[in-house]
This record gives sequence, structure tokens and C-alpha cells, in this order.
Amino acid sequence: MLKSHNCGELRIKHIGQHVTLAGWVHRRRDLGGLIFIDLRDRDGITQVVFNPGLSKDTHMTATSLRSEYVIQVSGQVCRRPSQTENAKLPTGEIEVIAEGITIYNASKTPPFYINEEVEVDESLLLKYRYLHLRRQGMRDNMLLRHRVIKYMRDFLDQKGFIEIETPILIKSTPEGARDYVVPSRVHEGKFYALPQSPQQLKQLLMVSGFEKYYQIARCFRDEDLRADRQPEFTQLDLEMSFVEEEDILRLLEEMFTSLIEYIKPDVRVIKPFPRMSYVDVISRYGTDKPDIRFGLELKDISTAVADSQFIVFKTAVHADGVIKGICLPGCADYTHKQIDELTEIAKGLGAKGLITMAWPSGDAEKELTSQLKSVVTKYLSNENIKQIVQIFEAKPGDLILIVAGSTDIVNKVLDELRREMAKRLNLCDPSLMAFVFITDFPLFDWSEERNMWECMHHPFTAPHEEDINLLDSAPGKVRARHYDIVCNGYELSSGSIRIHTRQLQEKIFGILGYEKQEIEDKFGGFLEALDYGAPPHGGIAPGIDRFIMLLTNGKSIRDVIAFPKNQAAMDVMTDAPSSISDQQLKELHLKIMDAGNKGRSF
Ligand code: AMO
Repeated sequence: MLKSHNCGELRIKHIGQHVTLAGWVHRRRDLGGLIFIDLRDRDGITQVVFNPGLSKDTHMTATSLRSEYVIQVSGQVCRRPSQTENAKLPTGEIEVIAEGITIYNASKTPPFYINEEVEVDESLLLKYRYLHLRRQGMRDNMLLRHRVIKYMRDFLDQKGFIEIETPILIKSTPEGARDYVVPSRVHEGKFYALPQSPQQLKQLLMVSGFEKYYQIARCFRDEDLRADRQPEFTQLDLEMSFVEEEDILRLLEEMFTSLIEYIKPDVRVIKPFPRMSYVDVISRYGTDKPDIRFGLELKDISTAVADSQFIVFKTAVHADGVIKGICLPGCADYTHKQIDELTEIAKGLGAKGLITMAWPSGDAEKELTSQLKSVVTKYLSNENIKQIVQIFEAKPGDLILIVAGSTDIVNKVLDELRREMAKRLNLCDPSLMAFVFITDFPLFDWSEERNMWECMHHPFTAPHEEDINLLDSAPGKVRARHYDIVCNGYELSSGSIRIHTRQLQEKIFGILGYEKQEIEDKFGGFLEALDYGAPPHGGIAPGIDRFIMLLTNGKSIRDVIAFPKNQAAMDVMTDAPSSISDQQLKELHLKIMDAGNKGRSF
């Protein structure tokens, strides 16, 4: 090695030793005579002192050092003079008095500070990702990611799982997004698809008899990007034979809780993970991805105000809609401006408006109806108002937000308002990871747009045994053996017990509108495998990027992926995607029909 120690390693016990360090110039201070360098490597920072009185040449070389130069320094470890210790650095009690220096490489001035976490435009950070990764925050994220994945591997190894790699060039597998495809040179006009997940392959491994499989699996999906979505991302993909829901949920609960205890003991977890059915979670939170670190649950007042004279309520009830709301503690004095902002959020998501009821603290003697401030109270009876207050468990000082309309829009709006208000009221405990298991999803979802049934998860998910007889008569009522793990408002994992017989699998494809020939073309090989003794099996796939983002309390999975794509699915560092040569196009039997105004056409 070109160094004897790492830059985070030296302590009082090393005083007197001659050491060699190598790394980057993190900071340089020239105090006339003495030059101080903070030398950084992956491990930490050590202060190096260049004294012209000790070695003139070495000091001379040090005068040319600039930020991010790569150097090797040899010297003696000394105690820092009293009062100059740095309690913030683990190496802060010592310094290395330089005796020799080699400059391995100079560096241009970086486009942003490496040694300070000041905010910089993200496109610049992505273009110079290799420099961004030098910053401590990013380095910590990468080290954390490494430790998390290692923990998962060790944990599953102990539980008898084996890691098996599955191919990246495969036939399309339906996960609900568009495929990334790769043209074949050898087979003209044919394409591979990159896996949206190794779903069918892991099921085939169960048919092969491996019983417990996992993989740190790279998945590719061409879908609209968001802070928690990347075109390529990583799952802890796992599958087990001879299991039921409970086995998988328990395994995952044990893995997540023990992992967090070991790797981030300062993060709190609620144990056991609460469980909610899909119906329950939608009713209480308006979403199947609830953040349960805080309350503000949705309350339904449809029945309580069904007889009111308020036209908005009447219309909603007549149209089979709902009237729901949330109660915000201590917000009764919200200003017009603040309420307008919330109304804009509601309208932006399709609500016709937002009804507010403020209950100012104060004259408790007055009749409840005259205390509540709202444009609707005049249309409501005393009984209506009493019931509303009771349902929301409102107290003086509270503000109630109410939305009336179709169930979907009301839930969507209140989910958003609930999250927004939790942010404004600072209700999210950053040291808490609140996991929830969501179970009993419907197997199918009716698509108005396509006028057909679609699967909520993927088509390999088994229906509940007792609902199988509803498959023909009432597909919408069939519950799936599908479970999600949600954490702090993010969907962290999805999984299910799978169908393991051809007959049932074909039936599900049929309900999803696949023609016989299409089933054969798309899934023929898979269906045939089910004929050869496929065992009962099930699995799950936690998103690793999302999990690490939550562990770091981050806002975007881009911060926990070494080389992510930007919001437009581009890698601005290497400039991908990019054009390929005419020769490559020819070999791949491809013709670009319309390159737009971006340049080439063939
Ligand atoms: P699903 O499609 O729900 O299930 O994905 C499982 C988990 O993968 C993560 N995830 C993503 N992370 C980042 N960017 C994306 N674009 C993205 N898409 C999904 C999420 C999600 O919960 N084969 C099934 C699993 C199974 O049934 O075993 C599957 O892939 O954390």
C-alpha cells in the first residue's frame, strides 16, 4: 500500500510513530510560516503540518497544494498543542508533522465545494457525480448501503436462503410499467426485455426445488420518475416454497427490526408491525401507503350529515360519494391565506372546494353551534354539528377540514392534506420508522380507461381460497393473498402467495382479458413449468433504495444510489441515452424513423 494508516485512524496511542498517509487535500490553511492540510481519505481526516524549519523542500512543495490534489505524506504523529485540539474529529487530538510529500495528481478547482455540504443545483451534482460522492454525506450513504445489503445477505444466509443470479436479458414480465428492450443482432426483429423484476424466474426457481431463494436484484422500468422512483433500482428479491403469508411477514419483520437495531440503533421501530386490511387503511388514511407516525385520521361524516340542507353535502350523498375530513389540533386561528393554500391543494387534486370549521378556544359557555366558525353551520342542525364534533373528537382550538365528492377524489385530497399538515405541524418524528403491513388487497381493479379488469399487484398473485368461487361472478370482490410493507408513507415492499397451478393461472389471465394465443405466446413456457410439480410458494421484494432513503431520512432515492438517472431518465455524467453509429444500427436491423429535430435521421 502507498499508505501505512488511514486518515481516520490515528489517535494518542500512535504518538511518536512514523506514518505514511495518502489522500485528497480537503482544506489548506497557510499561516505564513506553517501550512496546515486536512488530508482526507474514505476513512476520515487527519491534520498534517508543514513546517519550513523542519523540511524546507517539503514545505516548498506544500505551498503549491490546492483543494482535491492527491498526495502522499510521511511524517511523525504528534500531540496537537494544547487548546488546538479539534473535538469534532476522531483524530482531533493529534497531527502529523510532515517530513516528506509526493504529489500524485493535481486537481482542477471542483465545480462545487467538496468540504462543505452547501446546496448546489442537482444537475451539476449529477454531472460531477464522482465529485459529489466525495462529500461526506454521500460517502456515508454509500457505506450505509453496503452495510445494509451485507446484513440482509448474512441474515438470509443464516435462515437457509441461497443467492441465485437471474438473467438481465429476458422475455418481458408484467409488473405494470413499460419494458426497456434490447434489440437482438442475431435474431432480426426480435428483442429482449430487461427485467422489471425477476418475478417469473424466482417462481421457476421454486419449481426447480430451491425452496428459499434471494437476490440483490436490479430491476428496470420505463415509467414516470419521482423522488422515490428510478428507471433502474434494486430489490431484495426473495421467494420461498411451502409457506403462507404469516411466514413471509414474520421473516420480514424480524429482518427489518434486527437490521435497524444493529445498523441504526438510534432509529426507533414500532414492534410488532401493525397490520391493516386494504379496506381499513383506505377508509382511515385515504391511501394504501399511510404514514402512521402521526394521527390526523380521516373521519367519515356522510351518515351524520346525510339529512342536512347543505347542497354540497346533499349532492355528494346523492351521487354515491362521501363526506370526509380531518381534524387539525390547534389550527383554529388559521388565516384566510393559509386556508386558501390548503384549498388550492384540494382543488388541484380534483376537489370542488374545501369546507372548514374552526372552533376557536374561548367562550366555552356559549352554545356549540355559535362557537363554530364555518360557512356551513347555518345549513346544519344542532344535532348535525354535535355529531360532527363528536366524530372528529374535536376540541376548542381545532380546525376541521371537510371534502365532499366521489370516494376516490375525497380520499386522494385528504391523504395529501393530511401529509401536508403533518409537515406544517411538524408531526413526523424523524427518528421513527413506522412500518405497517397492509393485507387483503382486492385481486383486481376495474380500469375505466381500458374497460377491463387489471391486477392490483401482478397476475401471479393467488386469490384467497374462500373467494375463488367469486372469480366468475364478482371478480371485484375477490381478495388477493397480497401484502405490502409500508414505512413512513412509502410503499417499501410488495409480495404475495402465488398461484401454483396451470388451471388457476390460466383462469386469471383470462379474466385479465388475455386471449388464448396471447397466453401461450407470453406465458406458455411458464405455464408448462407449473405442470411439472410446482410447489405452493410465495415471496416479496423490498425496494432497497427506498429502504436506505428512509434509514437516512432522505427525500430522494437518488441520494442513496451511486450513479442515478436524473428526472428525465438521463445519466448526465456519461450522457446516456445517446445515439449509436449507423453501423451498430445496421447490425441490429434498426432504422430510426423520426429523430425529431434532435439531429440524425436514417
Ligand atoms: P413491486 O412492483 O411492488 O413488486 O416492487 C417491489 C418494490 O420495489 C420498489 N420499487 C421501486 N423502487 C425504485 N424505483 C422504482 N421505479 C420502483 N418500482 C418498485 C418498491 C416496491 O415496493 N415482483 C414483485 C414483488 C413480488 O411479488 O415478490 C414486484 O416487483 O419499494
